[in-house]
Amino acid sequence: MANMKVTIAGVEFRNPVIAASGTFGFGREYSELYPLSNLGGVSCKGTTLEPRLGNPAPRIAETPSGMINSVGLQNPGIDFVVKYEIPWLAGQDTRIVANIAGNTPEDYAAVAEKLNDTAADMVEMNISCPNVKHGGAAFGTSCDAAAAVTRAVRKVCRKPLMVKLSPNASNIGDIAAAVEAEGADAVSLINTITGMRIDLRTRRPILKNNTGGLSGPAVFPVALRMVWEVANRVKIPVVGMGGISKWEDAVEMLLAGASAIQVGAANFTDPYACIKILSGLEKYLDDNGIAGVSDLTGKVEPW
Ligand code: SIN
Repeated sequence: MANMKVTIAGVEFRNPVIAASGTFGFGREYSELYPLSNLGGVSCKGTTLEPRLGNPAPRIAETPSGMINSVGLQNPGIDFVVKYEIPWLAGQDTRIVANIAGNTPEDYAAVAEKLNDTAADMVEMNISCPNVKHGGAAFGTSCDAAAAVTRAVRKVCRKPLMVKLSPNASNIGDIAAAVEAEGADAVSLINTITGMRIDLRTRRPILKNNTGGLSGPAVFPVALRMVWEVANRVKIPVVGMGGISKWEDAVEMLLAGASAIQVGAANFTDPYACIKILSGLEKYLDDNGIAGVSDLTGKVEPW
């Protein structure tokens, strides 16, 4: 059997398949379907300093080969997550990636600091949510803002720090380089791409927020291109996500330069998607005599 272990920023994951933030809650519901110890890790729902109810409904719409959401970072707040969710996840024998968000650099730093003495293995700083008026993608689309929030969090964060990047930036490679220069240990990408649907009968946007973030198989080629670009730009590890729905996508993402992958929207169409992707990946490695999954990382041979 191929070696499935990967190491990101000093954290060893038993395999490279991580459930993506915002599609897996804190893992409780999925744990009723399969042991979370099958996964490399779980990235928790983006957590803020205070609890948030999120945006008004409707906040989900279907699209060809995908969906758009405008959830608006609904979450129970960091104190609840530290008290109840992380301790529960710590009993599931999987890596815990604590995804954090905020309105200001100070907010992000305060949330990160509260995670220092918890069982979280890594902090994933979300500077790419397209559905909030303050913070989110506003930080992820400007090099200066991305650098400033990374600097603020790095000062207080004692966990490995991964920054989740926005595809809505015109210069994702520059943003990745900016957060690397401020001490990020890894980057993850892509978050969703801003999109819109309109109801023909009412002539109103389907989402109450007017716009939302597009995810699902439709975004995969964009994600792949951005992962390739970023992996060629920075030295820190890249975790690739965006529309991965089958094991072949995972192989492409690793070849493009990802050290691990996250599976998001696919969990909604098939709650066993992560498990199926993992077993397809294992079979591919064994069928092709590849000793370890890390051997795939960055091995695309561009023309
Ligand atoms: C949301 O809660 O609006 C989605 C999270 C994100 O896109 O970062």
